[in-house]
Amino acid sequence: MSPDPRLRQGPVTVRPPATSANLGPGFDAFGLALELRDEVTVEFTDAGLEVAIEGEGAGSLPVDEHHLIVRSLRAAFGRLGVRPPGLRVRCVNRIPHGRGLGSSSAAICAGIMAARALVADGELQLDAYGALDLANEIEGHPDNVAPCLVGGFTIAWRQQDGVDVLRLDPAEGVSAVLFVPSQPLSTHVARGLLPKDVPHVDASFNAGRCGLLGPALSAPDLDPARRRELLFAGTEDRLHQGYRAPAMPATAALVARLRADGHPAVVSGAGPSVLAFGVAGASPLRAAEYARSGNHQAHGPAWRASVFPIAAGGVAVDEDRVA
Ligand code: HSE
Repeated sequence: MSPDPRLRQGPVTVRPPATSANLGPGFDAFGLALELRDEVTVEFTDAGLEVAIEGEGAGSLPVDEHHLIVRSLRAAFGRLGVRPPGLRVRCVNRIPHGRGLGSSSAAICAGIMAARALVADGELQLDAYGALDLANEIEGHPDNVAPCLVGGFTIAWRQQDGVDVLRLDPAEGVSAVLFVPSQPLSTHVARGLLPKDVPHVDASFNAGRCGLLGPALSAPDLDPARRRELLFAGTEDRLHQGYRAPAMPATAALVARLRADGHPAVVSGAGPSVLAFGVAGASPLRAAEYARSGNHQAHGPAWRASVFPIAAGGVAVDEDRVA
């Protein structure tokens, strides 16, 4: 059988960013892309499947059809109506797994965008909305996949015929300080702690904060101290963080400590990492000191603190390498 003429030879390399979801009040809706990227290279072979993993998850992730990138590649090739003969997938994983930094969304979006780049009319057959819908279907909620695909700060919502997204650029001088603990927490476990219903008063509390966060992050020309104040108010939440605190007491304690000092801190996604917004020109956030003080607790996790620029772009596709 001759190969499908729509298949491009490749290889293609894609670099999906880490993402932080929820950002406090925007449960399953808000997301932020961070300049920390995995690297995934995909090419066609004559037959079979080869998966090689370096970095996070090497030795523990499946290297067969169960690998999330492979499942996402297959799903996207299916939507594109092609059947590749064989596949070689190489992953260099830098996004920590199970820490609330969107590693699974990165895998899903990498697979979809690589498949799209490897098919001659891929971008027409699976446009930006098609890619977002498919990513949301695989992940189950859109808040990580949206910023992973388009970068910046995103508000994503489901509607009858799929998912839509609004992307905003955070203002200059806003950065994300991440505190990543040594131990993971499964998103599945964290989602299991949420109640089916919430009090109306809590929903109303979050509604106001949700309205505030976008402008607090992106309005130009805000005085830095005022921006920090608005970010502080705009990152309050009553819909998920409190319910999940028993599963991640050290995370809840670190968020409380940061907030007691006026820093806009939240649980990153389903946790257990913590994200705090830094604002240039406002009181500095001495990340290493908070990380260290947590590390002195008898049974607390070791925190790794790093400042990440907010990623302006979503999955980067190295087009030069697609033959
Ligand atoms: N919105 C999701 C949650 C993000 O908090 O469960 C984690 O994938």
